[in-house]
Amino acid sequence: MKFFKVPDEAVRRLPIYLRGALRLSLEGTKRISSAQLADYIGFNAWQIRKDFSYFGGLGTRGVGYDVETLIVRLRKILKLNKVRGAALVGAGNLGSALLRFDDFSRFGVQIVYAFDSDPRKIGRTIGRVEVEPVAKLTDLSKRHIDLAIITVPQDVAQEIADTLVTCGIRGILSFSPGRLVIPKKVTVKTIDIAMDLAGLPYYLPNRTKHN
Ligand code: NAI
Repeated sequence: MKFFKVPDEAVRRLPIYLRGALRLSLEGTKRISSAQLADYIGFNAWQIRKDFSYFGGLGTRGVGYDVETLIVRLRKILKLNKVRGAALVGAGNLGSALLRFDDFSRFGVQIVYAFDSDPRKIGRTIGRVEVEPVAKLTDLSKRHIDLAIITVPQDVAQEIADTLVTCGIRGILSFSPGRLVIPKKVTVKTIDIAMDLAGLPYYLPNRTKHN
């Protein structure tokens, strides 16, 4: 029985540990200590041990982590041990790039449906997915999908999110800037590269002239 809530920050770091473990496995590494794992992914060992402690440790004291076992356990914790289908709305520049990116399934997600409102895009196959008219978005309620990615312009993002929620979508990754108002039962993650970029110059040394 769990008596505590695992901090969201710890959960957010788990996929990074998983990606590190997957790379180590590809390189043929069988066993690794928390210090080696920390060094490999650029975290600190204490943080890794602390995060893993929420899930029973995931390794053996003094022996470290068996890489394959770690991968299996992390996938299970993150519920990535089966590939889930996701729908993408907005097959424009960003949406098309995501549709062509083949690697999400290693992390338990595969984009299987795409929707757009532009007649020039409807019917086109991007990556492995044929773009459907956005009018068909409501069909998602019959397609057993619970994840969606929003890559539409900001002014229509809320409307699309509302429809997705009505169709039973429980997890949304949004690239559209701005806050989405969504019921609590739905998890929304917003990715905003502009905000990440805007936070970078603060850490840079001052320059006297542009170059
Ligand atoms: P885009 O204009 O190339 O693509 C938007 C697509 O959405 C178009 O294909 C358009 O036909 C479609 N669309 C418009 N209204 C729709 C509706 N009601 N239903 C379905 N499809 C609809 O734009 P781009 O460059 O791909 O950007 C997409 C979104 O992602 C924008 O909101 C942009 O601000 C955001 N963005 C976010 C970034 C980030 O770091 N989070 C980086 C780049 C873009």
